[in-house]
Amino acid sequence: MDTATVHAKRVDTAALEQKVKAMYRDVALDPLGEFHFEMGRALAERLGYVPADLDAIPSAAIASFAGVGYYFDLAHLKPGETVVDLGSGSGTDSFIAAGKVGKTGTVIGVDMTDEQLAKSERLRAAAGLGNITYRKGYIDATGLADASCDAVISNGVINLVPDKRTVFREAARLLKPGGRLALADIVTEAPLPEGITCDATLWAACIGGAMQIGDYTSAIEAAGLRVTKLRDNPQYLFISENAQGAARKYGVKSISLVATKD
Ligand SMILES: C[S@@+](CC[C@H](N)C(=O)[O-])C[C@H]1O[C@@H](n2cnc3c(N)ncnc32)[C@H](O)[C@@H]1O
Repeated sequence: MDTATVHAKRVDTAALEQKVKAMYRDVALDPLGEFHFEMGRALAERLGYVPADLDAIPSAAIASFAGVGYYFDLAHLKPGETVVDLGSGSGTDSFIAAGKVGKTGTVIGVDMTDEQLAKSERLRAAAGLGNITYRKGYIDATGLADASCDAVISNGVINLVPDKRTVFREAARLLKPGGRLALADIVTEAPLPEGITCDATLWAACIGGAMQIGDYTSAIEAAGLRVTKLRDNPQYLFISENAQGAARKYGVKSISLVATKD
């Protein structure tokens, strides 16, 4: 068993879920408040989001954007496709995906935090977009049908889940053969010590749950997906002193990747 899984077994998962929900409730309701991480349009543009894509979606969604990297160039979404966004937050990526799959395509955003879901749904309805649906749920047990989508996308979310293997198995289950998982997430080069991994606050701030990169890609492959491209996102910067310290000491960093289901 890898170190992250051993430590994940010791983190208080109920406390973690409450902390994560509280943090992302604030992200939805008060994006100008103080957070341990960057948010918003300037971040999205620095990560590589195309300004024209951002101009085409609700600015209130972008204000609460809390992703960690860009991956749409790896996802290659096409008109008519069905896309599931795991941890859709206030909706930035699901709105961009909806533009790429068009009216004949469908995007399903899944999130567990009521305020994030309420905000994305309110913005969707105001924009009159009929090709997005938001569902309350957990990303490791979405309740969606087997082999029902062409692409699974996710941004800055999987690191928050104690057992990442269940998320990758869920993504593989949802994908049709030939489908792809495209994501950005936080990982680490060296194993994190227990003091960091058992701290629910550091988990909720996207540091404590970071898995070692080799274990992360092995978990994707063990789920039946093949990682075809992976890159670091040095443009993603940690802003709290704790997070910056962990990033320097253990190589905590953002990556983007795409994996395909053969
Ligand atoms: C860092 S935010 C990213 C949101 C969005 N992808 C974005 O880029 O703005 C993490 C989101 O994942 C959701 N989340 C975290 N763990 C989850 C889980 N196990 N199941 C469902 N949603 C989860 C949180 O509610 C939050 O909205």
